[in-house]
Amino acid sequence: MLVLGIESSCDDTAAAVLNNNQILSNVLNCQDSVHAEFGGIVPELASRKHLQAINPVVEKALARADVQLSDIDLIAATQGPGLIGSLLVGFSYAKALAHVRAIPITGVDHMAGHILSVFLGEEKPAFPYIALIVSGGTSSLFLAEEFHQFRLLGRTRDDAAGEAFDKVAKMLGLAYPGGPSVSAMAATGNPCHVRFPRAWLEEKSLDFSFSGLKTAVLSYVNQQKMKNATLQLHDICASFQEAVVEVLVEKSILAAHTHHISTLVIGGGVSANTRLREVFARRCQEDGITFHAPEPQYCTDNAAMIAFAGYHKFCKFGAHGRDEDVYSRSQLG
Ligand code: KG4
Repeated sequence: MLVLGIESSCDDTAAAVLNNNQILSNVLNCQDSVHAEFGGIVPELASRKHLQAINPVVEKALARADVQLSDIDLIAATQGPGLIGSLLVGFSYAKALAHVRAIPITGVDHMAGHILSVFLGEEKPAFPYIALIVSGGTSSLFLAEEFHQFRLLGRTRDDAAGEAFDKVAKMLGLAYPGGPSVSAMAATGNPCHVRFPRAWLEEKSLDFSFSGLKTAVLSYVNQQKMKNATLQLHDICASFQEAVVEVLVEKSILAAHTHHISTLVIGGGVSANTRLREVFARRCQEDGITFHAPEPQYCTDNAAMIAFAGYHKFCKFGAHGRDEDVYSRSQLG
């Protein structure tokens, strides 16, 4: 079955063609340069750029896969969560294509794409597994029981991990998007330079909170400025990153032990972070847990994961009605 995947939930316009589980093409139009001067995503601009990019991106994905639109059997498009204006562009485009070609469409929850993105690489995890999904919009822990069966175990009560990276980068004057900038700075910094707070919340809680950490970094930076001290950017980035990584790793391992699960998977933009992967690999080995991380190109938003999740959803539940609408909050749970 040839599946065309379409993703436009935030600031990346993406299309991919899959033959069942095999990726034939994966095309991405990234808007980072559009939003860089604002230090964050401007929703109105994101929607306009999606409108310009969607047709060329889909055409490129079909051409790279060496298939015609008439060959496509199923369209899988991100239905939510995300920015409503952005989602509407990709999802309406997908519904129109499906209508014109008289082929089925399935709406995909973006979180399901991230939970399953690890399957796009060589190593495939076995179900059930714990999935930590960390991006600019979410920090959530799921129990994945099947390709289409996910249980929400915990989520952020305020900022997402990627959002914290982006905001800290902005306060330190680093380039957008903040995750890669902070991570590059941190590579040569001392993670013990400042002991920033870790928000563990209530005992055994699998929820996250990163707004206190972000405020702690801001207070530290302001204190240093008041003392006219030079900001040790590498050390501040490394210390901040260490605080985020420790909480993400330890809560994921707690989730695995609490639910008696021996496989752990990560996904989402922040899962590209080298230090996060290192600490996960070490801690999982210590605790006898099998650890899987997606290939870097499948960590951030992409349409291959949407096509993959859509294919499995369609195989289980069939197509959905063309009168479905987009949504801003994940429906997984
Ligand atoms: O999944 P994604 O592409 O988009 C959504 O937010 O849905 O994730 C983007 C987020 C941004 O906040 C970005 O700063 C963060 O992922 N990110 C990273 C790294 N690469 C991207 N955060 C930490 N370390 C990285 N290497």
